[in-house]
Amino acid sequence: MVGFIIMSNHSAPPPGAATDWTIPQDWASYSAEEHATWDRLFARQAGMLPDRVVPAFIEGLDVLRMTRPGIPDFDELNDRLFRATGWQVVAVPGLVPDETFFDHLAHRRFVAGRFIRTPEQLDYLKEPDIFHDVFGHVPLLVHPAFADYMQAYGEGGLRAAKLGMIEALARLYWYTVEFGLIRDGGGGGLKLYGAGIVSSYGESLFALDDPSPNRIAFDLERVMRTRYRIDDYQQNYFVIDSFEDLLRQTRDADLGPVYERLRGHQPIDAGALMPADRVLHAGTQARAEARARV
Ligand SMILES: [Fe+2]
Repeated sequence: MVGFIIMSNHSAPPPGAATDWTIPQDWASYSAEEHATWDRLFARQAGMLPDRVVPAFIEGLDVLRMTRPGIPDFDELNDRLFRATGWQVVAVPGLVPDETFFDHLAHRRFVAGRFIRTPEQLDYLKEPDIFHDVFGHVPLLVHPAFADYMQAYGEGGLRAAKLGMIEALARLYWYTVEFGLIRDGGGGGLKLYGAGIVSSYGESLFALDDPSPNRIAFDLERVMRTRYRIDDYQQNYFVIDSFEDLLRQTRDADLGPVYERLRGHQPIDAGALMPADRVLHAGTQARAEARARV
């Protein structure tokens, strides 16, 4: 799941939304069943993540008091989040145009759906809901370097939109913000940080434990060339050293020449390995092959 897809940049906000597509969260209107769905999802992930996820994620849950029951009230959440890193969460009716999305990020506003999945949809969703957007994405906004990376990403997105390179930026978002892995301190282990993984029970297990996917050291240009799957778990995960390093690699990169090279190259298929890759784990691709036979 990703916070944006390619949409017409000329579509108008729906009725009831502001010109920047934001809507009130209207927290008081959530039903007891909707709060209970949040609690079920939260309990399942919180029980499994602590030794799998990057410690900064757990710290973010604590700082933001997200361990309290029920769907978070954005007004309360934002008091703590703003004090930590100057970020805010704003509600939107669904997917928003790319440039609206980038502009919010560039101003340290994270857009979140206000709806929550039904009890029948605990494991599968077509569009990101509030559990994915808030549980998955918001805790790491408390980490200073990750918070700066998200802002830099939004600023880079606004420039990329003018150059027709949004697809490359979408791949960067996908393989970091949504499906990123990170080295575990000085040890050789890996931890989760991408929101698409940490908000998914199945992928939280698969991304670290399954022999199928490749796990490759992060390289900005490689990631920007790599196709991704929207219909199943990923065939590649890219591993960063630290959020500080991710921020440095992206904010300091001169993307003009990178984009020129990208225009001259074919995209790399999901699941393929390249000669220059620093491969941490060469996957069997057994899952992708089994699904392709179905
Ligand atoms: Fe997302």
